[in-house]
Amino acid sequence: MVFDSEIDRLVRAGTPLTQTPPWRALAEHWEQARRLEMREAFAQDPARCQRFSVVLDGLLFDYSKNRVTEDTLRLLLALAEASGVREAAAAMVSGRLVNWTERRAALHVALRNRSNRPVMVDGRDVMPAVNGVLERMRRFSEAVRDGSWKGATGLPIRTVVHIGIGGSHLGPEMITQALRPFHDGPAVRFLSNVDATDFVETVRGLDPAETLFIVASKTFTTQETMTNAGTARQWLLDAMGDAAAVARHFAALSADREAVAAFGIDPGSMFELWDWVGGRYSSWSAIGLPVAIAVGFDRFEQLLEGGHAMDHHFLEAPLDRNIPVLMGLLGVWYGNFFGAASHAVLPYDEYLALLPSYLQQADMESNGKAVDRDGSRVDYQTGPIVWGEPGTNGQHAFFQLIHQGTRLVPCDFIGCARSHNPIGDHHQKLIANMIAQAEALMVGRTAAEARAGLARRGVAGDEAAALLPHLVFEGNRPSNTILLDELTPRTLGMLIAAYEHKIFTQGVIWRINSFDQWGVELGKALAAQVLDEERRLLAGEDVDLSRHDSSTAGLLRAFAEKAGR
Ligand code: F6P
Repeated sequence: MVFDSEIDRLVRAGTPLTQTPPWRALAEHWEQARRLEMREAFAQDPARCQRFSVVLDGLLFDYSKNRVTEDTLRLLLALAEASGVREAAAAMVSGRLVNWTERRAALHVALRNRSNRPVMVDGRDVMPAVNGVLERMRRFSEAVRDGSWKGATGLPIRTVVHIGIGGSHLGPEMITQALRPFHDGPAVRFLSNVDATDFVETVRGLDPAETLFIVASKTFTTQETMTNAGTARQWLLDAMGDAAAVARHFAALSADREAVAAFGIDPGSMFELWDWVGGRYSSWSAIGLPVAIAVGFDRFEQLLEGGHAMDHHFLEAPLDRNIPVLMGLLGVWYGNFFGAASHAVLPYDEYLALLPSYLQQADMESNGKAVDRDGSRVDYQTGPIVWGEPGTNGQHAFFQLIHQGTRLVPCDFIGCARSHNPIGDHHQKLIANMIAQAEALMVGRTAAEARAGLARRGVAGDEAAALLPHLVFEGNRPSNTILLDELTPRTLGMLIAAYEHKIFTQGVIWRINSFDQWGVELGKALAAQVLDEERRLLAGEDVDLSRHDSSTAGLLRAFAEKAGR
């Protein structure tokens, strides 16, 4: 094992994690802390916001609207210490095999290591390779942007279509969309789903002679991506008629040089990533090429700088002032002690509309694990269900449940002090809504307040009594608020890296491997077998489906029958 914490030693000696002293201390504390009313805590301590917030460059993290006291934090921080969060972070950034089930390092920090300090993997510094690919990305993105990269007929590229899925798609698309105010390069579209509709709609209206496809796949074997890449190649060849066109209209982002060459993409247009870059942590690598093409390489570097600044903070700041550690601990507090099953990400910025789905993969693929570091089934909750939508739209959809439902849903509100589109009072209204929602969740509305409101409206007697329970808001519902000065490549980089390290912190505390994703393999393997059966059924063969349950076999037959008609 790459690090060995106090809790590891206790667990290996037979004490379950939830019976270790730091965990038990929290469980005991929870008995009284769960009764804490945030409303009262704010009334008693006018400095609560100051006490429970951290400012870092252009980012304010306010976690004062949480069901915590100084004691809660002390105990949570003790859990982080005993879990070896610091040691684990040091192990990760020094290239140790923190992804032990795949015998790999997890070095996304090296991709944004602007200090350029050596980072060793298997005794070799990876920084020269990282910087080499970045330099090639700079040259390529500049050539595509300034039109010196020509398509096969001599025309410059007007649209880039990025083909990838999961970690090779969600990050680049989210970042490209978030940085839209900075777009000054060719248009960038994203193609991910194996559903041909996605292909058809993505290339609709495009001229093949002015289109560049970027095939992004670390493994270069992913079914969806390779199917879409093949269809894109055919679409190009049908229009251009010359196989040589592929070299001018395709680039690849991958760890597999041979597979890229076998597909027919020029090695000169391949940008490498390495096995120590996890898919969902790969936007900082060559996988970020569409971002560099859209907004320019200098801005892509500013994104890396923001990520690097957050790495520095995560590694150096004391734990009680450490944004990702605090985010992670608060998630543990609600998930493991209050029983919260989900976590809502609510960006009050249309440019961050894809952040919830990006974080869904980052978090759920990382911490959706039920087996611990030693291979034992855990008996506590691990990663939450992550979900969300931008505000204010979400307010008119699911906020009802967050305010008055039976489930506790801790929320992250994310907004920007300055808008890229300061038209009229839109932005004031947007942010007023964000701040008001967090306040409403926290203060709620008491029966006395609800009664007074009814009286003001002239509702009294039986009618008031009947309505009253529906108008009461329990309140005391927790949230963090992250306020960026402005959405820039740098602050976005900080934000993404903060969430990455939050996820890591939680993985360490839960003693799970946040860097593998075996859970997606079974579905992939079965899909390959089912596809074969489907094809044979459609060809009219008599296929033995007895290995399947009756539902699976029945669905296969029904599909073949209806599709074949
Ligand atoms: O969904 C599983 C997964 O392996 C993700 O972890 C990864 O980001 C995605 O598939 C795409 O993988 P690749 O980049 O190899 O095509």
